[in-house]
Amino acid sequence: MKGRDVVSLADLTAEEIMQVVATAEHFKMMAKAGMQPRPLVGKTLGMIFHKPSTRTRVSFEVAMAQLGGHALNLTAAELQLRRGETIADTGRVLSRYLDAIMIRTYSHADVVELAQAATIPVINGLTDFSHPCQILGDLLTIKEKRGRLEGIKLAYVGDGNNVAHSLLFGGSKVGMHVVVATPRGYEPDAGVVERASEFARASGGRVEVLADPLQAVAGADVVYTDVWASMGQEAQEEERRRVFGPYQVNGDLMARAGPGSVFMHCLPAHRGQEVTDEVIDGPQSVVWDQAENRLHIQKAILALVIGG
Ligand code: CP
Ligand code: NVA
Repeated sequence: MKGRDVVSLADLTAEEIMQVVATAEHFKMMAKAGMQPRPLVGKTLGMIFHKPSTRTRVSFEVAMAQLGGHALNLTAAELQLRRGETIADTGRVLSRYLDAIMIRTYSHADVVELAQAATIPVINGLTDFSHPCQILGDLLTIKEKRGRLEGIKLAYVGDGNNVAHSLLFGGSKVGMHVVVATPRGYEPDAGVVERASEFARASGGRVEVLADPLQAVAGADVVYTDVWASMGQEAQEEERRRVFGPYQVNGDLMARAGPGSVFMHCLPAHRGQEVTDEVIDGPQSVVWDQAENRLHIQKAILALVIGG
């Protein structure tokens, strides 16, 4: 995967996705054994953030440091981007200094444009449309907790947002059964559902979009949710709180899931809204391991796209 961009999971083959997961498993095992390979000595990652971040920023920065490289936090407000330098020109220039760029922004088209102009790998650290690095880490977590990916039923309950889109792409590529339950009007993008259905046909997986959360979680191995109002949707928070009420992941909903089911959330969580304390702090919750796995997966992504 050397030189590749990670802009959308739709662009990766199932084999590449599994290669990232396997590489992360390797890095995780090495780290737990007190060994730290340093394949990125002398390499620099630039990180552009147009939105806040805790997990993505810290895990990428720590991953670069532990692999022997260096990460630069390029807050968007401090770049000439803010004064009108184009995203493409920014990409051309940064390509002369850096070995890869990680960007978190609003418009997915900006990330595509940056990747086209840059001559170094561009990694999508979240857009309004998708969150591929999150879902690569989640696949590692699901494999660890449920022993496999193929045939696993994941029920995503809540907003048909960036995380839902990447779960649809990633899950369908690796043969999972991904069910999304959303209120009407908040469904995932129809184009994403269509492409994910094609990927599922090829992998033996399955994709469903429903309105009923109870039906979605029936027999699920994984119940997943995310915030009802994403970054940039703060003005809609109140309205969304009303609409999404019946989609809260609480003890009653978890009780409908399959035996041994786990609860996942990309975090940050709005406790008392999309998930109750009882669930996120309960025995089925794997959210802290899920957050940890962001570090191992970032190492894998970085080593594969910029490593020697
Ligand atoms: N899950 C996730 O991407 O978290 P941050 O917004 O903290 O990076
Ligand atoms: N859907 C959320 C994910 C945060 C990691 C957002 O975009 O704000």
